[in-house]
Amino acid sequence: MLQTVPFEQLPAYKKLKTHHKTIAQKHLRELFAEDPDRHKKFSIRFGDILLDYSKNRINSRTRSYLIQLAQEAGLSEAIEKMFTGDKINATEGRSVLHVALRNRSNEPILSDGKDVMPEVNEVLAKMKDFSGRVRSGAWKGYTSKEITDIVNIGIGGSDLGPVMVTEALKAYGKPGLNVHFVSNVDGTHIAETVKTLNPETTLFMIASKTFTTQETMANAHSARDWFLEKAADEAHVKKHFVAISTNRKEVEKFGIDPENMFGFWDWVGGRYSLWSAIGLSIACFVGFQNFEQLLTGAHEMDKHFRTTKLDRNIPVLLGLLGIWYNNFFGAQTQAILPYDQYLHRFAAYFQQGDMESNGKSTGRDGKPVAHQTGPIIWGEPGTNGQHAFYQLIHQGTKLIPCDFIAPAVSLNPLGDHHKMLLSNFFAQTEALMNGKTEEEVRAELEGSGKSKEETDFLTPFKTFSGNRPTNSILVRKITPKVLGSLIAMYEHKIFVQGIIWNIFSFDQWGVELGKQLANKIYPELQNDWPVSNHDSSTNGLINQYKRWR
Ligand code: F6P
Repeated sequence: MLQTVPFEQLPAYKKLKTHHKTIAQKHLRELFAEDPDRHKKFSIRFGDILLDYSKNRINSRTRSYLIQLAQEAGLSEAIEKMFTGDKINATEGRSVLHVALRNRSNEPILSDGKDVMPEVNEVLAKMKDFSGRVRSGAWKGYTSKEITDIVNIGIGGSDLGPVMVTEALKAYGKPGLNVHFVSNVDGTHIAETVKTLNPETTLFMIASKTFTTQETMANAHSARDWFLEKAADEAHVKKHFVAISTNRKEVEKFGIDPENMFGFWDWVGGRYSLWSAIGLSIACFVGFQNFEQLLTGAHEMDKHFRTTKLDRNIPVLLGLLGIWYNNFFGAQTQAILPYDQYLHRFAAYFQQGDMESNGKSTGRDGKPVAHQTGPIIWGEPGTNGQHAFYQLIHQGTKLIPCDFIAPAVSLNPLGDHHKMLLSNFFAQTEALMNGKTEEEVRAELEGSGKSKEETDFLTPFKTFSGNRPTNSILVRKITPKVLGSLIAMYEHKIFVQGIIWNIFSFDQWGVELGKQLANKIYPELQNDWPVSNHDSSTNGLINQYKRWR
């Protein structure tokens, strides 16, 4: 069990409160002027990843108080508990062992006193065999044709991870093998996806931990109907449908051959499941070797997280910086801004990862928390974001800490594109930090020949306060291994914050209420009678829908 942390009563919290008053007065320009060694002091190299966190509103004292906060919150003990299979997901009575899925050392990891590694390795071997057969063409459809299209049907964690990773690693994908993802229960999603597909060469992967999720089951049934329209014979289903789930009974009920089922376990959280059989579409698309490299990258970050001192520990530092802005500066959001087109779903992926994990307001003691918890996560790839929402980051009234991520080497070296992209990456964090002073603006306007009147008028609008914090995460190249490390880095950051905020990060009761109510309303939509059992707004909306449909 995790201990309860009295966040606001920790001695370091109080120190940080006082210290914040001093730091809040300081401009990043001053911090850099005072200490020319900031980059060296506040950056960490981890293999092919460089984290530069020097453009944050901190000094060495801030860092040591934040580390003290983590120590007082029992972070090191909590990390050990996760890695050793303690049931830290207390409200569901489960261990949290996504680290076991990528445990390349193969050292035993126990859950309920049983080593989980043999089962993990067994499923990995099955994935290797299956993905190899799909890629080589040995796995044939019902008319003996090779598979050309894989459709993963899942939602939330059973969708977002595979979507994000197959996009991020598109350059490593097998030409001629296409992956598609259907998640939304809106019929448009499945209808548009299958429109151009041939049932003879299409393989459906029904990915659902529970195998009861309404959206996924509805899409899976529609996919089977579409398939049988042409294939005609139920016996052909087994060549075109596989299941990824923890629920064998429901898989069989759906009619998928248990031979074609890839299992995982209740100690894998949905939003932490891309490393499990949920990653089957990834393994098929990029090949099992690359999938293993993804696991290796994550495992290396796991080792770093578990064994590195807190003040050199990347996920710990990122988590603490987030807490610094969230709980002391009052920042409400955190932007993730990849300067890499392949990472265009990265922020969306961590919207679930972070917000479903730390979007909680009940403390581990069962009482409402008196502090802010998880931030709103958002972001889009640069440079598109620059022409959309960066205005607010630069000159708006809100403080938005940003993570900038970029590879030094492009997977598509095309003319000078990458230099242009990276000049923007470097320029943005510099601009956010320094801003532009009134004097600089005046000098610029006067230099361009503007009159005194025009200069006076324009100066306030063209002034940038700067002092806006960023992390820069520069990687050598987006490889499966680097991507694995980056994902694990953010997963552990979320863990760090959840521990210190005294919440349970691995349940998701908040998504239940909407599901329950939808299940109650669904039968009411089966007839045309007006409803009157809800509030007036809900009644009014349902009844108008019934009139219009
Ligand atoms: O959104 C709630 C949730 O339970 C997520 O945690 C999960 O990733 C998703 O639904 C899908 O669940 P399943 O894999 O059981 O279909």
